[in-house]
Amino acid sequence: MSVRAPFNLDVIRADFPILRRKTPEGRTIVYLDNAATSQKPESVIEAISQYYRAHNANVHRGVHVLSEEATQAYESARQKVAQFLNAPNERNIVFLRGTTEAINLLAQSYGRPNLGPGDEILISHMEHHSNIVPWQVVCRQTGAELKVVPIDEHGVLDIEAFEAMLSERTRIFSCVHVSNALGTINPIKRMVSRARSVGAITMVDGAQAAPHMPIDVQDLDCDFYAISGHKMFGPTGIGALYGRAELLESMDPYQAGGEMIKYVSFEKTVYNEVPHKFEAGTPNIAGAVGLGAAVDYLRSIDFEAAMGHEEDLLEYGRQQLERLPEVRLIGTAKEKAGVLSFWMEGTHPHDVGTILSHEAICVRTGHHCAQPVMQRFGIPATIRASLAFYNNHEDLDALIEGLKKVKRVMLG
Ligand code: ALA
Repeated sequence: MSVRAPFNLDVIRADFPILRRKTPEGRTIVYLDNAATSQKPESVIEAISQYYRAHNANVHRGVHVLSEEATQAYESARQKVAQFLNAPNERNIVFLRGTTEAINLLAQSYGRPNLGPGDEILISHMEHHSNIVPWQVVCRQTGAELKVVPIDEHGVLDIEAFEAMLSERTRIFSCVHVSNALGTINPIKRMVSRARSVGAITMVDGAQAAPHMPIDVQDLDCDFYAISGHKMFGPTGIGALYGRAELLESMDPYQAGGEMIKYVSFEKTVYNEVPHKFEAGTPNIAGAVGLGAAVDYLRSIDFEAAMGHEEDLLEYGRQQLERLPEVRLIGTAKEKAGVLSFWMEGTHPHDVGTILSHEAICVRTGHHCAQPVMQRFGIPATIRASLAFYNNHEDLDALIEGLKKVKRVMLG
């Protein structure tokens, strides 16, 4: 393991060029939309640029020097992701577009051939649409039923209900590790263990967890774990699915075409080995290289100190927001990461977002692709400030000042 530099916020911020950007009006960007996508450090931008400048070729297909270098870069990124997730082997890592594609892959390659009437898929009420809709599709295709674990008024999963809903009918348990809309950190290790004890296959949506905490798939003992590169300081359009080897081996391909085959004739096709069996077509090579660089970056910083800094920011932001009487925080779990989601009485989130944008403050407003969460809290949308370790107290002070301006403009 490389030596980690001490956590120095000024140094960290200097690694992210976009944080120095100004709007046309000359304001410095205050970026608080990290749950939607994170910013990229210079090293990630440089790795992608260098790949295209010096190594670009197709992978696994050529004997020429560039193809060998591109293949080496792509496969070395797979090793880095495997290490990042503490997967036993790089063959456990499938590159794909991101968590959404990972869940669709699982639903179609595992769910569709294995589910039937009487079977149940268990998810939670705090899932992103990407962990709801693929299961609805496979339920329609197979006759299986979707069951939903409720959440309480703090945005915490009802563990008793979860226990009661588990049965030998539960064939798949798919749950978010950290909620994108609420920030709740679920007790995923315990839940995975319970779900496995009834014989369910377990899938964890780790898109929002990977940027905030170390992930160890062997310790979690889950069957599948998905991450999205762009949420963890890597590029868009690339992510990874960790899968238990024997399950990946037994599953059908998700898409068919080049790269995922060993041999093709009109009579018979032999599929490639795992993980290539799941990577039809020319992959996102530059994306994988960028994701590898993001993993290197995360492994080069003092991640524990970064987590402490984020916790401190989250608490500071919570206290500041609670001082505004119009603000109602949505998602008040004790175990929480990186998200300050709220409703502001007398305003609509989109108007708040627009006024904040005039101050160069970037937050997300809307349902955050988690409409059932909004329905649970009886609101159409929230304003969401979401944090990364490069944020500082000034970013949150700017948000609070911006909200005071919203009050003056909209509430008089
Ligand atoms: N899932 C992303 C978000 O939470 C897009 O904003």
